[in-house]
Amino acid sequence: MSAGGKRAREPEPEPAAEEEVDLTPLQREELHAQQERDGILTFPIYYNDGTADSLTKLVQLKAIFCQQLPKMPKEYISRLVLDRRHVSLVCVYSGEIVGGITYRPVKEQQLSEIVFCAVSADHQVQGYGTRIMNQIKEECKRTGIEGMLTYADNHAVGYFRKQGFKKNVIMKRERWQGYLKDYEGATLMECLVDPSIDYLTTRQTADVQREALVKR
Ligand code: COA
Repeated sequence: MSAGGKRAREPEPEPAAEEEVDLTPLQREELHAQQERDGILTFPIYYNDGTADSLTKLVQLKAIFCQQLPKMPKEYISRLVLDRRHVSLVCVYSGEIVGGITYRPVKEQQLSEIVFCAVSADHQVQGYGTRIMNQIKEECKRTGIEGMLTYADNHAVGYFRKQGFKKNVIMKRERWQGYLKDYEGATLMECLVDPSIDYLTTRQTADVQREALVKR
């Protein structure tokens, strides 16, 4: 009891950090777009060009892959991340690498093979995995890549499906066979990239269209 005989007021809960608030997918897309405009959220691309900067960033990304993909041998992850034919799109939030994706572009076939994708434990379920995937789709458009293929583990099939990957591969087999590494027990999935779509504003575009329909 407080001096006035009333129950002491419960302390106000601490306001949640911006990232922890339960946002809708549309709000999340808008937040990430704003953070990108403010330079807080960036998606630089690295490959092993022999510079200390690239190596440092790739090693940090590799550490996230090793933590998040514990069944994959660490040496295997290191080898591919540092392999010169592989490229990594890194998600940097507030100066810290929080995730990324490593892929191998096969330019002559206009396809990319997604090899690893992960977000650090502290930053999962905040939309970074989705943003990384949308950023890579935009990168595909810039570099003339028409589709991405990946061998997804059982536990990752749901995530890839949400990112627009399908088990039904439309790309002709002769275009990718021999270019991808076969993984036993994994499911081949494909995502074709449509150059007419702006993947960074899909939610906002859908929302504008929905409002226009409602008005009509
Ligand atoms: N299966 C099914 N759905 C999944 C999922 C999974 N394994 N992981 C995430 N999702 C869902 C989320 O619930 C979310 O759904 P919603 O849009 O309906 O809310 C959506 O996928 C995207 O979530 P998002 O917050 O953008 O993803 P994230 O930042 O948490 O990153 C992973 C997703 C998969 C990259 C992350 O969980 C991770 O690093 N996992 C371990 C490594 C891994 O499995 N990588 C994939 C294969 S290489």
